[in-house]
Amino acid sequence: MTKVQQKIGLKALMSQYCEQKGLSRADFAVRSGVSGSTVSAIDNEQWDKVSSAMVARLESFIKNDSPESVYNTADFDSVMRLCDAACAHRLMIGLIGDTGTGKTTALKAYSCRPNVFRVTFEKSMNPRQFFKSLLRELGIDFEGNVNAMIARAAHEINMKERPLLIIDEAGKITHPVMLYLHDLREKTQSNCGVVLAGMPYFRDNLQKNAGRGKEGYSEFLRRINLWHRLEGLSASEVMYIAREQGVSDERRLKEMSSKRRFGDLMNEILLDKVLKNDI
Ligand SMILES: Nc1ncnc2c1ncn2[C@@H]1O[C@H](COP(=O)(O)OP(=O)(O)OP(=O)(O)O)[C@@H](O)[C@H]1O
Ligand SMILES: [Mg+2]
Repeated sequence: MTKVQQKIGLKALMSQYCEQKGLSRADFAVRSGVSGSTVSAIDNEQWDKVSSAMVARLESFIKNDSPESVYNTADFDSVMRLCDAACAHRLMIGLIGDTGTGKTTALKAYSCRPNVFRVTFEKSMNPRQFFKSLLRELGIDFEGNVNAMIARAAHEINMKERPLLIIDEAGKITHPVMLYLHDLREKTQSNCGVVLAGMPYFRDNLQKNAGRGKEGYSEFLRRINLWHRLEGLSASEVMYIAREQGVSDERRLKEMSSKRRFGDLMNEILLDKVLKNDI
């Protein structure tokens, strides 16, 4: 593919992404962290103004935020229903599942819809960094003190129709961020659903800290309207996926059938392909 073809491809990718999520070009620029003039250069095919490094950066931003081809397993479908319910009834829902059970994959698929805002908490984030990333997801480039950032985020969320806020890796949320999230929830709960996703220790730690009487934990826990735990893959789902991915050896299929986590199954399938020199 020539560089120009790649740039034209990016233009199509960007248009499709914005259309799917109902984003304006200005929203897209803020979310992806590039200038408005770069976005309009892409739209107007002024390729001399768009470097190859910029193309690579934007391609990886869009791909990272777009669903891969997914299997509609029972867990996957349950996450879709859960997000629908959070949205429709403005609930705050805790989603827990072991590592590799497919939480991020399902939430990423759901976040292709308009007015669904997904942020991933990173352990190193302080409250300002967290709310800055949320504001960017909302299409706003704004920095101030944390309270001003929360007020701005709440204002934007409350202007949207049926918004859903998804926070992935919620088990890593620090104490100060939890207290601030509580404020955000108070300011938006009449209009916005929230899904908090994490490992089972996310709930365990909230309960433990609430039990110890640590500031804010009981209040936060009480505001989580319901919890849902992913079950993992069933044996028949594993068989279906493995066969579909080209595994035909009955002994290998049997070995794989005990896998419950998507991540583990995918690694087994990968191993199979490597051994067969398929990749
Ligand atoms: N429904 C699905 N269809 C296809 N592949 C999936 C599906 N769910 C998960 N996977 C695959 O399994 C891997 C692990 O899934 P994912 O990262 O979503 O798990 P997770 O629950 O978010 O794990 P962690 O708690 O470690 O973040 C992914 O790389 C993805 O490729
Ligand atoms: Mg994940």
